[in-house]
Amino acid sequence: LDKISIGMLGLGTVGSGVVKVIRDHQDKLVHGVGCAVQIKRILVQDLEKERDVEVDRSIITAISAEIIDDPTIDVIVEVMGGIEETRKLLLRALENKKHIVTANKDLMALHGPELLETASKNGCDLFYEASVAGGIPILRSVVDGFASDRIHKIIGIVNGTTNYILTKMSDEGKSYLEALKEAQDLGYAEADPEADVEGIDAARKMAILSTLGFSMNVGLGDVRFKGISRVSQEDIEYGKQLGYTMKLIGAAEREGDRIDVTVQPALISDSHPLAAVKNENNAVYVYGDAVGETMFYGPGAGSLPTATAVVSDLAGVMRNMRLGVNGHSAVFPQFPKKLKTTDEVFKKYFLRLVVEDEVGTLAEVTSLFSQEGISVEKIWQNPKRGSISEIVLVTHKASQKNFEDILVKLNDSRVVKRVGSSYRIEI
Ligand code: NAP
Ligand code: HSE
Repeated sequence: LDKISIGMLGLGTVGSGVVKVIRDHQDKLVHGVGCAVQIKRILVQDLEKERDVEVDRSIITAISAEIIDDPTIDVIVEVMGGIEETRKLLLRALENKKHIVTANKDLMALHGPELLETASKNGCDLFYEASVAGGIPILRSVVDGFASDRIHKIIGIVNGTTNYILTKMSDEGKSYLEALKEAQDLGYAEADPEADVEGIDAARKMAILSTLGFSMNVGLGDVRFKGISRVSQEDIEYGKQLGYTMKLIGAAEREGDRIDVTVQPALISDSHPLAAVKNENNAVYVYGDAVGETMFYGPGAGSLPTATAVVSDLAGVMRNMRLGVNGHSAVFPQFPKKLKTTDEVFKKYFLRLVVEDEVGTLAEVTSLFSQEGISVEKIWQNPKRGSISEIVLVTHKASQKNFEDILVKLNDSRVVKRVGSSYRIEI
């Protein structure tokens, strides 16, 4: 085997990067895995579109069968996105005995088990390192690097677009919409950026990470998620005054045989290294029973960083082809999935209440907290307009159930006009 042929599905942000990395690092691939890579064909939607990379126009096609059913193509590199149509194409490719490398977390979070089983059945590799945390080799680390340990927690920033937006809002006072537009122009956002800003993309990544980390079949429906679209400049500023930074945090925790997986905007201490993770960068902490705390940091989105993860997976497929061991790398979940209930999850919380500034308001608010058994760590009142004031408080650790209950009671209280915002204090 002196050359392998690949067919690419997609030539957008990631696809262009893949072409560049293969072109520029061909000698490293030949040296490392002993054979060269030829890009045989590339699927796109618009044959006329200008591309970010120079490609021989004759290899570009809009007909998927020219790639999926071409017997001379060994590996499919899927960097086009989408779910249902893409799933069908990849299943057909696997039946045609083609290995697959994909960057598609939407697909893997929803149909990972089906695709991995089909790959194994057909003796094919299916690698998806680029689907989580862009250029950071986190999946390989979780599976191989922690093969001897038992992971009990994975926490971090796994979406580049929202981290970019929060950084620009916090450090440069830019508006949410202005920062989102920049993230889109830089190629970080999904085709529909709602997936980023509403936390869905991060939730998919946390489902993939916890499936591998805890060896349980964790799907998108098992992740409680919330995005950043309602995070205000005011909340970011309050966080700063208290010594916290606002981040979209993915957290997967295991105690015994029960797990809890969430994605939400949360406050983290300014002194924690996650607070210093800026722009499109991601960082993931993985805690093992034996190793303790480890941290993985790097670009979480963007053309070349993501392409390095794709092409490294490709090198893995090539190595397996040379050794004749394709189709044996998938690790299937070992344990049944058991989710924690909300009275088993304990966190600190930040709360901003808009209240009537009158005699007894503070006493009423604090008495609701004591009725619910939630201890308040810090509290202060900030006069606004006329008789309206804001009460900002930080709790000690409380169960999520008690916290949800108190939100209902506060909303029903005569003195509280509305709950302005509430966030977990994660670290
Ligand atoms: P993109 O820039 O929108 O590129 C998508 C490419 O796929 C385009 O070339 C498009 O063709 C082609 N395509 C889309 N639907 C198609 C269809 N139905 N038939 C044929 N061609 C089709 O997207 P991207 O940012 O590169 O992302 C691609 C995948 O990588 C997604 O799954 C995304 O979640 C994932 N990912 C992205 C990043 C990132 O930083 N951008 C990082 C990690 C993972 P045309 O060019 O002709 O429109
Ligand atoms: N839209 C994703 C992000 C791309 O911003 O993180 C990388 O997966």
